[in-house]
Amino acid sequence: MNRPPISEPPISQPLVVDTVPALRAEILDWRRDGLSVAMVPTMGALHDGHISLVRAALATSDRCVVSIFVNPAQFAPTEDLDKYPRQLARDLDRLTEAGAHLAFTPTVSEMYPTGFATRISVGGPSADLESDFRPTFFDGVATVVAKLFLQALPDRAIFGEKDYQQLCVVRKLCRDLDLPVDVIGAPTVRDAHGLAMSSRNAYLGAAELDVARRLNVILREAAAVLAAGTDENSVTGEASAALLNAGFDSVDYVAARESLTLAPWRRDREGRLLAAAWLGKTRLIDNVEVSST
Ligand code: PAF
Repeated sequence: MNRPPISEPPISQPLVVDTVPALRAEILDWRRDGLSVAMVPTMGALHDGHISLVRAALATSDRCVVSIFVNPAQFAPTEDLDKYPRQLARDLDRLTEAGAHLAFTPTVSEMYPTGFATRISVGGPSADLESDFRPTFFDGVATVVAKLFLQALPDRAIFGEKDYQQLCVVRKLCRDLDLPVDVIGAPTVRDAHGLAMSSRNAYLGAAELDVARRLNVILREAAAVLAAGTDENSVTGEASAALLNAGFDSVDYVAARESLTLAPWRRDREGRLLAAAWLGKTRLIDNVEVSST
């Protein structure tokens, strides 16, 4: 018997809007239909890590909106704002495959119109670590994330644990400002060698990639030694030395912190071992869990 060919359901590209009124109009339509909304804020150059966030959004909500905005406010003048990869057509293809419903792609002037003069500064978990090396970074992140949340008013938002301090800062932002958005952390997506996915991995040459892949290995080994009871300073010092031996050019920090607050780690609390290190002109960050005793 001849069976009719099984046709795949049509895959549609997400609707693309670049203004706040258009974003709000679309989301209002969803709300009128009683649909829940998850947001995935990104700076584009989407990789498998971002796609895992879209999937987490779709697992929790009826609709997924992804923002794609390279946010100048979080780059210092010496950083890679101009060089940061921008590839909207490819990003939209990836969002189509992943099933996202809406892509919000505002221009810089849509987000920061002439005369824009507000910055949000979150305390608590923003202290130290990244802030020691990128002192204006979290103000820029908090400002744009607060704007995105107020523009879209999602029920929840998904952030990768790869940027662990950022996740803690965004949670604190919502708690302190009563932003009614449930902030969900999603596990870091890694390549077959454990390298955390990052848009900035695109800067790495083949030899650098081999070195970059040592970061997670060294961190995991250090976290195990730490959890087994070795003194924190000696573990972080040895991990820094191991990174330099592996070929990293410099190490900004290797530090153990309490998972929830990023306060100094205590052995009876769940911890995170976080690190940032330079490879040529590329700065890599990563973090792993440290078990409590
Ligand atoms: O993690 C990022 O890509 C950015 O910091 C974010 C959260 C989209 C804010 O610009």
